Order: sequence, then structure tokens, then C-alpha cells
Amino acid sequence: MEVESVLVTGANRGIGLEFVKQLVNLPNPPRFVFATYRDESTTEALKEIRDACKDTQVVLAKMDITKQNEIEIARKVFEEKLGDKGLSLLINNAGAAKMQGFPDITEENMLQHFSTNTVGPVSVVKEMLPLLQKAAAQKSGGMNASRAAVLNISAMGGSITQLTDAQPKIFLKAMGYRVSKAALNMAMRIISITIKDQGILIVSMCPGWVKTDMGSDRAALTVEESVSAMLKTLSQLNEEHHGTFMDRNGVIAEF
Ligand SMILES: NC(=O)c1ccc[n+]([C@@H]2O[C@H](COP(=O)([O-])OP(=O)(O)OC[C@H]3O[C@@H](n4cnc5c(N)ncnc54)[C@H](OP(=O)(O)O)[C@@H]3O)[C@@H](O)[C@H]2O)c1
Repeated sequence: MEVESVLVTGANRGIGLEFVKQLVNLPNPPRFVFATYRDESTTEALKEIRDACKDTQVVLAKMDITKQNEIEIARKVFEEKLGDKGLSLLINNAGAAKMQGFPDITEENMLQHFSTNTVGPVSVVKEMLPLLQKAAAQKSGGMNASRAAVLNISAMGGSITQLTDAQPKIFLKAMGYRVSKAALNMAMRIISITIKDQGILIVSMCPGWVKTDMGSDRAALTVEESVSAMLKTLSQLNEEHHGTFMDRNGVIAEF
């Protein structure tokens, strides 16, 4: 995979930070990696990567994905750097989870999840679309991550099909989170069909259960394992995968 430029949201910790680490270490690393954060005081690890990088320009940008003005300001920064080349790959990674099951669940909990995990990623795609279109226009042929793509970090928890009565009852506590990821999958499915002729590959992927602040120490996978699997899968995707939802190894999942 040879990607000219990548934007990773929620890049200051967890899976997002690992994406930045592995991207700059690819055999043919991107020319630009745009790494977004919300709070400057959490960017130490990102700054270390940026300062050590020779082949990639790592650009840090403040972007709360629930704030339209911050998305717009960041887009202008990226646009200035990218010029006519556009943005090759958007990794919609930022997300949040707060356990609350039914009937304790509050309107606030539901709306916060919807705002961060569904509306936020849609707003970022919307704002970056002209940049992704520019990148897609640089190359002809089919869809792939090296041309122009959006990788949405979703979750199997958002699969309605997979949630059965046989699953541990604790899984039901992530109600707002699961609803928001199901909605994210639908939103990206709609976007993928709407812009299917533009050469921009859109996929949603579950990273697995990963040891991060969200996934906890009890999780099955390290960030290294999860992100290397996702990047390997991403590099093999084409137009046949457009609009699908899959696990980190590329196995297509039911919505
Ligand atoms: N870990 C897992 O087991 C697992 C499983 C399935 C799916 N996922 C998905 O993988 C993605 C990354 O999760 P993670 O495990 O790395 O979680 P994490 O360690 O909790 O990190 C979440 C990241 O998202 C950022 N973020 C949260 N709300 C944001 C907002 N409104 N605007 C911008 N950034 C925001 C956080 O920034 P701050 O530092 O500023 O809070 C942080 O960088 C999420 O979409 C998550 O749903 C994770």
C-alpha cells in the first residue's frame, strides 16, 4: 500500500496513536500524516513521533469531531498542505463508550454516543469529501486505499444480527455505544452508495477487542496486533468491498 496522505482522528492515544506509529513506519510511508487530538496536553506521544520522523511530515491538528468549526479549521490546514493532490485516506477512528443499560439509560448518554460515534464521523467525511475527491481524481481505475478511501473504525457491537439472547448480558450495558455504531454502519452504507461513482472506497471495520482505555487490560489484542491486521486488510481492499462492514481480517460481517 502506497498512500500519499492520511488523516487519523483521535490519534493521541489507543488505536489512533498506533495507526500513526505504523503508518510512518510503512516501507513506503505517506508524505503526510494528519493526526488529530482534542487536548494539547495529551499530544506528547504524537509529538515524539512527529519529531523523529524523516520521511513523513506528521501534522498535529486540534479537532473535536463533535465541533463543526474545529473540523473546518483543521480541513483548511490539511488543504493548504495537500494542494491539488487531495487527501488519500481518512481513518475515522475517534470514538467513545460509556456503559449504561436499559432502563437506566439516559437521553444524555444516548445523544452523546450518537454525537461522537455517528454524527462526528459523518461530519468529518462531509468536510473532507472535496479533498478525497481530489485524491481520487489523480488516479484512474478501481477503488483502493492507495487512491482514495475512508476507513471507519466501527465495532461488532454495532451488528444487530450478532446480538442474540445467547450473548453475555453485560454486552447489553453498552446500549448507547452499540446503537451509535449500528447507526454509523448505516450512515456509511448510505454514503458509500451515494458517492459510488467517485472512486473513493468506503469501508467500516471492527478492530477486535483491543487493550486500550476503552477496551481495558482484559482485552484480547494489543494495539499493535489490531492495527497491523487492519492495515494489511485495508491494503487488499477494492471496489468489491465498497460499503461493507468487516472484521480486522477482512471477513465481511452482517450488519
Ligand atoms: N478498544 C476496543 O476494544 C474497541 C473495540 C471496537 C471498536 N473500537 C473503536 O476503535 C476506536 C478507537 O478506540 P480506542 O480503543 O483507541 O479508544 P480510546 O483509547 O478510548 O481512544 C479514543 C480516542 O478517541 C478520541 N475521541 C473521543 N471523543 C472524541 C471527540 N468527540 N472528538 C475527537 N476525538 C475524540 C479520544 O480523544 P481524547 O484523548 O481527547 O479523549 C481518543 O483519542 C473507537 O471508534 C472505538 O469505538 C475499539
